[in-house]
Amino acid sequence: MTEILTVEDLRVRFTVHGGSFEAVRGLNFALNAGETLAVVGESGSGKSQAFMAMMGLVARNGSASGTVMFGGRDLLSLTPSQLNEVRGREIAMIFQDPMTSLNPAMKIGAQMAEVLTEHQGTDRRAAWKAAVEMLDRVGIPEAVSRANSYPHELSGGMRQRVMIGMALMCQPKVLIADEPTTALDVTVQAQMLELFKTLCRETGTSLVLITHDLGVVAGIADRMMVMYAGEAVETGAVDDLFYDPRHPYLKGLIQSTPSPDERKSYLTPIAGMPPNLTRLPPGCPFAPRCAWKMPICETTAPVLLPFGAGRARACHFDGPLVSVESAS
Ligand SMILES: Nc1ncnc2c1ncn2[C@@H]1O[C@H](COP(=O)(O)OP(=O)(O)OP(=O)(O)O)[C@@H](O)[C@H]1O
Ligand SMILES: [Mg+2]
Repeated sequence: MTEILTVEDLRVRFTVHGGSFEAVRGLNFALNAGETLAVVGESGSGKSQAFMAMMGLVARNGSASGTVMFGGRDLLSLTPSQLNEVRGREIAMIFQDPMTSLNPAMKIGAQMAEVLTEHQGTDRRAAWKAAVEMLDRVGIPEAVSRANSYPHELSGGMRQRVMIGMALMCQPKVLIADEPTTALDVTVQAQMLELFKTLCRETGTSLVLITHDLGVVAGIADRMMVMYAGEAVETGAVDDLFYDPRHPYLKGLIQSTPSPDERKSYLTPIAGMPPNLTRLPPGCPFAPRCAWKMPICETTAPVLLPFGAGRARACHFDGPLVSVESAS
């Protein structure tokens, strides 16, 4: 497997009210060519900030450090204009709300065509033709006439399809989709995720799917990275992680996610709240909520260590997590 993106010790620090804290706290992972990696974790775990930072999109009160190797270059050391090139051409991002990324005053066909005329110097006619073809590929009916629509004339699901098409216009090597379907209803969500996967497979694009909904991950992703309090706490093949989670946080997430086929009547939410990043406990950040907590967990933070076939987890407890009653 070829690593296409290699992230080492990525940190994102924000300054607020004179103090500062890390929202991403030393993230290490690799993305393989052509794979779908799901990034999951509760709200505030640093999923979006980690990927925004890689793309040079940290807010003004923040800064990023570490290395993000892509195509032989460290993205964190590129100039803004070099990064801009990478963003448009080689790594594309899709966000939750398509209206924030589409220009309301421009026909969708023209917006999609512009991606090619601006980044690749394609002539306007060829670019328009490519835009119409892409609209057709992402399942917009009557693409030729739809290309002349403005964003507000489309349904939410259609706008999302336009966003996907726009992101894929330049045939990026990596597509980062941050909660791309949360604004859509459940049936459309499923269709959209299928579409992502099919298109990425056809073009060999690696897909990073950021979500706090574990339910959408199974069946879509190859591997999964679970984040908690700004760190990766478990990584590995999706099937292995669902079948035999080794970090109590992931175990908790699975137990609190309704599965689509079997109706579970005993969903168990994870006890407690995510930690305040400005006041993290000295040991493991998950310890206050953990049913497997041992004395060492309150003093020493575990590091992400490899085990088994391509898996890693950051937990002092060594072994399968047999269900216990929820944390006291
Ligand atoms: N500009 C900022 N200034 C201060 N803190 C910030 C800023 N942007 C993000 N944060 C904080 O960084 C942390 C990580 O945020 P992030 O958006 O990455 O979470 P997330 O995992 O994507 O959550 P969600 O599932 O809700 O999208 C949060 O505590 C958030 O409040
Ligand atoms: Mg987010």
